[in-house]
Amino acid sequence: MQQITIRRPDDWHLHLRDGAMLQGVLPETTRHFARAIIMPNLVPPVVTGADAAAYRDRILAAIPDGADFTPLMTLYLTEDTDPDDLAAAHASGLVTAVKLYPAGATTNSASGVRDFDKVRPVLERMAEIGCPLCVHGEVTDPDIDIFDREAVFIDRVLDPVRRATPGLRVVMEHITTRDGADYVASNDTDLGATITVQHLVLDRNDMLVGGMRPHYYCLPILKRREHRDALLKAATSGDPRYFLGTDSAPHPTHAKESECCSAGCFTAPNALSILADTFEKAGALDKLEGFTSLHGPAFYGLPVNEDTITLTRGAPVTWPARIETGDGPVTVFDPGFPVHWSVT
Ligand code: DOR
Ligand code: ZN
Repeated sequence: MQQITIRRPDDWHLHLRDGAMLQGVLPETTRHFARAIIMPNLVPPVVTGADAAAYRDRILAAIPDGADFTPLMTLYLTEDTDPDDLAAAHASGLVTAVKLYPAGATTNSASGVRDFDKVRPVLERMAEIGCPLCVHGEVTDPDIDIFDREAVFIDRVLDPVRRATPGLRVVMEHITTRDGADYVASNDTDLGATITVQHLVLDRNDMLVGGMRPHYYCLPILKRREHRDALLKAATSGDPRYFLGTDSAPHPTHAKESECCSAGCFTAPNALSILADTFEKAGALDKLEGFTSLHGPAFYGLPVNEDTITLTRGAPVTWPARIETGDGPVTVFDPGFPVHWSVT
């Protein structure tokens, strides 16, 4: 039997939703993770400090008894975001980061940014006060093929925005391509990236060959194998600019198994088991703790967690096929191969 003990992980990109769904999915995160960056793409989105305070209270109220969990709140950047409101929410510790969704890029992103010039004053203020920008890095131009949207975003939007806003700290959320990994590697420490579990273990063939698998559909969409390989190399490299953001994104099973499938994989319950398995196969178990527990706090300027979790290698782990929530069942991500590591 093999065991490793690592500092308790954090999830640097998480969707918790609200109401009955929040109540149902939150325990799956608090079981393993100490903190998480909470995505603001509710309907309506979390756009002001007051919205973030109210949402944080609802999350805190839903934490299971005995669990120790800190939600790190984000604001949803719109063309009307008030720099003073954001600065006050950041200074008070209420808001950790701001999320940029290009309008129309993904689930509930209609209020996102269309004209990047309109958010320039907010971005400049963020650079001044040291508030990081979390970016959904895909263009929404209908002429750009969905598989190219990340690479084109880097050239057309991200690089120009970063050049125009020196000192702005940026997290490229859920990178899915070699282009994303390379862009991070070729820049300074003001740029980091989160990587999801599904993008480390799957490629687009897994989603599309032999039938379409809706529970593998997420955005940015899974790419070719060579991109998955580049992400795995980045995640297991020990480079502190790459860290875990599961992007665990629950949708009721009926919304996934539907004519127009919602985007998102629900990985909160088994993310760490799958990661341990993946890092082991890559011969990089010694790099797991950095990716899950050290690099994220370093980027965000936060202390690492003091407590630990232990992962044990044994017989293949089982987990429920779905969890029940007041909004209906949510199917748990199944990587499609046996996973031998459990969190004990
Ligand atoms: O797959 C995704 N699901 N990607 C996103 O960017 C949003 C998320 C969601 O909110 O469901
Ligand atoms: Zn997300």
